[in-house]
Amino acid sequence: MEKLNGKKVLIAGATGGIGSQAARMLAGSGAEVFLTGRKADRLAALADSIGVPHGRCFVTDLTDAAAVASMAEDIGRQCGPIDILVNASGIGIIKPVEQLSPEEFNLTLQANLTAAFLLVRAFLPGMKEVKKGLIINIPGVLGKVPMAGAAAYSASKYGLVGMMQSIREEVKRTEIRITNLFLGGVDSPFWDTIDLRVQKDRMIRSEEAARAIWFLCQQPLSGVVSEMVLQPFNHQAI
Ligand SMILES: NC(=O)c1ccc[n+]([C@@H]2O[C@H](COP(=O)([O-])OP(=O)(O)OC[C@H]3O[C@@H](n4cnc5c(N)ncnc54)[C@H](OP(=O)(O)O)[C@@H]3O)[C@@H](O)[C@H]2O)c1
Repeated sequence: MEKLNGKKVLIAGATGGIGSQAARMLAGSGAEVFLTGRKADRLAALADSIGVPHGRCFVTDLTDAAAVASMAEDIGRQCGPIDILVNASGIGIIKPVEQLSPEEFNLTLQANLTAAFLLVRAFLPGMKEVKKGLIINIPGVLGKVPMAGAAAYSASKYGLVGMMQSIREEVKRTEIRITNLFLGGVDSPFWDTIDLRVQKDRMIRSEEAARAIWFLCQQPLSGVVSEMVLQPFNHQAI
C-alpha cells in the first residue's frame, strides 16, 4: 500500500458531499491536504474540523482561469508540485432537453468540463517536472451510459472522459496516472437542486465514495487504475 504521509493532495469540490469526506479521510491518513471550494464558510469549517491551516484553503470558482492559475501558483510556492489532484467538483442539471436553457447547458459544461481542464492545465506541469502524480476525476456513470434528462450533464461528463483519455496519451512516457471514477448515485447535496424523484437511502453514502478515492490514492506505483466503477448495489446500470 502506498503511504499517504506527507503526500500533497489538492481536493477540488472540498465543500461538497464527496469532496469533504475525501478530505477528511485523506487528511486522517497523513496527507497534507489543500482544499478548494466556493463556499468560504463551509471551507473554513471543514479545515478547522480536520486540522488544515487556512493558508491551505482556497475559495475559488474553478471556471475562472485566472483564479485557478493563481491558486496553483500559491500552492506551488508552498509545497512544489502536488502528488495527487482529486477533482470532486461539479454540478448537475437534469431536465428534458427542450427545457434546458442555453445558459444551463453552458454552465454545466463550464463547471464539469472547463473547470477540470483548468485544473489539469494548472497542475499537470508540476507533475510533468517530476514525471509522476495522480489525477482523479469523477465522471460518474452518466459519463459512460446515457440517461433521459442528462443531455447537458452527460455531454460534460463524456467530454471529461474523452479529455482525460487524450491527456493520458500525452503523459504516457511518465508515471503520471489518470483515474476516471464512475460513481452511481451518491447521497450528497448534489441532488438537492435536482427535480427528480430519487431514493437517497438506496444510494452510495458519501463516505463510501470517499473511501474509493482514498483507496485509489493508496495504490502502488507499479500499476494504474484507469477506471473504477462503484454503483449502488441494486441500481447497476453498467
Ligand atoms: N452525487 C452523485 O450521485 C454523483 C454521482 C456520480 C458523480 N458525481 C460527481 O461527483 C462530483 C462531486 O459530487 P457531490 O455529490 O459531492 O456534489 P456536491 O455535494 O453538490 O458538491 C459539489 C462540489 O463542487 C463544487 N463546485 C461546483 N461548481 C463549482 C465551481 N464553478 N467552482 C468551484 N467549485 C465548484 C461545489 O462547491 P460549493 O458548494 O462551495 O459551491 C462543491 O464543493 C461531481 O463532479 C459530480 O458530478 C456525483
